[in-house]
Amino acid sequence: MFRAFLHEQDDPDACYALLARDAVDQVEAYDGPVAGRTVLDIGGGSGYFTEEFRRRGAHAHLFEPDMAELGEKPPDGTVVADGYLLPLRDGVADVTFSSNVLEHVADPETFLSELARVTRPGGLIYVSFTNWLSPWGGHEWAPWHYFGAGRARARYQRRTGKAAKHTLGENLFAVHIGSTLRQVRARDDVTVVSARSRYWPFLAETVVKAPGIREFATWNLLLILRRCPP
Ligand SMILES: C[S@@+](CC[C@H](N)C(=O)[O-])C[C@H]1O[C@@H](n2cnc3c(N)ncnc32)[C@H](O)[C@@H]1O
Repeated sequence: MFRAFLHEQDDPDACYALLARDAVDQVEAYDGPVAGRTVLDIGGGSGYFTEEFRRRGAHAHLFEPDMAELGEKPPDGTVVADGYLLPLRDGVADVTFSSNVLEHVADPETFLSELARVTRPGGLIYVSFTNWLSPWGGHEWAPWHYFGAGRARARYQRRTGKAAKHTLGENLFAVHIGSTLRQVRARDDVTVVSARSRYWPFLAETVVKAPGIREFATWNLLLILRRCPP
């Protein structure tokens, strides 16, 4: 995975295909084969996760609010919709999947409530996000976010001559692992099956148990949740 990330710029298709295979492997490790299941990919960008779920036989549907993120050839049946208010009835999904969206929404708790609402009781919810103090927390201006978001963003623009995609407080939010875990564990609509680093090949759950250190060492938190009966 790490080698693939190093080639994100020069070979994005291969990088994202590998990322998708890895994420769907993770879903199947917790929930069994996805073939025949209804899967929702919320905030799925151009849809490479949706395509991988479909390749494995799932009925996968992409919901993405930003037309610019969809690219030129989104998967058939893509719905332009906001994750806060999905045009779906309660409990429609066996698996609700959201990769790297939580740090882009201003109200993660409401976003999670909507993911839980559309998931059937006993269904699986996959949520991952890059936390603010991760070395990648500042996204395109990382790791300079450690010295302040405004400074890091200005530096990015100065160095690249390009406008930064993200602005803290507008489309990127400082989400932390400790507070997110406390909020999720206090919910009554989901139970936490696993809280782990998404990309670490070893000690993935251990690193998340170390307060303080986890904010820097986890890189990306993966929450595997199960929908409780209403
Ligand atoms: C970093 S991209 C992640 C895309 C893809 N899920 C992935 O992991 O590569 C963040 C995505 O979140 C989407 N997003 C932002 N706010 C959202 C919202 N309120 N509901 C659903 N998606 C949202 C963006 O449009 C963008 O596609």
